[in-house]
Amino acid sequence: MKVHELQTPALLVDGAALAHNLETMSSALPGERLRPHVKAHKCTALAGRQAALGHAGFTCATIREMEGMAAAGLGQDLLLANEVLDASRLGALSRSGARVTVAVDSEATVEAAARGGVGEVVVDVNVGLPRCGCAPEDAGRLADLARSRGLEVRGVMGYEGHIVGLEDRAQRTELVGQCMELLVKAHAAVGGELISAGGTGTYDINTWATEIQAGSYALMDTAYGKLDLPFRQALAVLATVISVSPGWAVVDCGLKSLGMDHGNPSIEGAAVWFCSDEHVTFSSDPLPAVGDRVRVVPSHIDPTVAYHERMHVVDGDEVVDVWPVDLRGW
Ligand SMILES: Cc1ncc(COP(=O)(O)O)c(C=O)c1O
Repeated sequence: MKVHELQTPALLVDGAALAHNLETMSSALPGERLRPHVKAHKCTALAGRQAALGHAGFTCATIREMEGMAAAGLGQDLLLANEVLDASRLGALSRSGARVTVAVDSEATVEAAARGGVGEVVVDVNVGLPRCGCAPEDAGRLADLARSRGLEVRGVMGYEGHIVGLEDRAQRTELVGQCMELLVKAHAAVGGELISAGGTGTYDINTWATEIQAGSYALMDTAYGKLDLPFRQALAVLATVISVSPGWAVVDCGLKSLGMDHGNPSIEGAAVWFCSDEHVTFSSDPLPAVGDRVRVVPSHIDPTVAYHERMHVVDGDEVVDVWPVDLRGW
């Protein structure tokens, strides 16, 4: 099939840019130094490519991602880097032969892991992002509690999500150091072999973590494109121009096919005015014609991919593969 024959909106993945990104990251962080986060692409075919490059362990954000990865034969070492209060499905997954580790940051989540039949945990430590994670000084107590409940404590995790997107590398470097000082201290109280942290924006800066949980690097977005990273924009939403008026044009993708929390998407050579449910309105000189195809580049990859059922891997105008986005849902 040819790209111009696709129904729009459609996710396009530039196969060469993807290969460049996967290889660049794997040479910087080989094997166990990278625990790719699947939340960014939600696609077991893409995860398979990461595994083929030597990364046996993966990071997940949802129970569904954990189950899907195991079902695809990629369950050698799965970390759910998120808190759950009902771990029964994770327990079942673990009994089916996958290696399952879950993050805990409270007595309730330790209890849930033990009750649900999950054997292994990491203590999630708040390193500055106001989201999940216990206070660094409470990490040792939670590890002791987990061990007393029969759980194996593999170490700590602490995601510096408020730092990964900072455009100034010097500032990013300084702040990651401060975050990781907290995590390393917590690790001393917790023990275990893992210090799991980091993302695409800090993959080469965070030298404290034993493994980096980067995800966006594979497909990239315009928010990360503003940083000094060696990764290429691999993903775009293919859209069709459905209406042209004097001064502007409209394509058939909008809020329901683009993650917008990092701002408007971009169109090369055009100024994006705004997005509505099924439309992006933009101006360009010259304006396109009705029926023209346009590549819309998202500002945030993770929520963009989650809107779509499949991604089309392309080489020029040729669709060379169609990969289901099979880790969607809960
Ligand atoms: C816990 C956790 N670790 C790692 C990442 C990966 O970050 P990135 O997409 O910047 O590579 C995320 C992304 O939000 C995350 O939530």
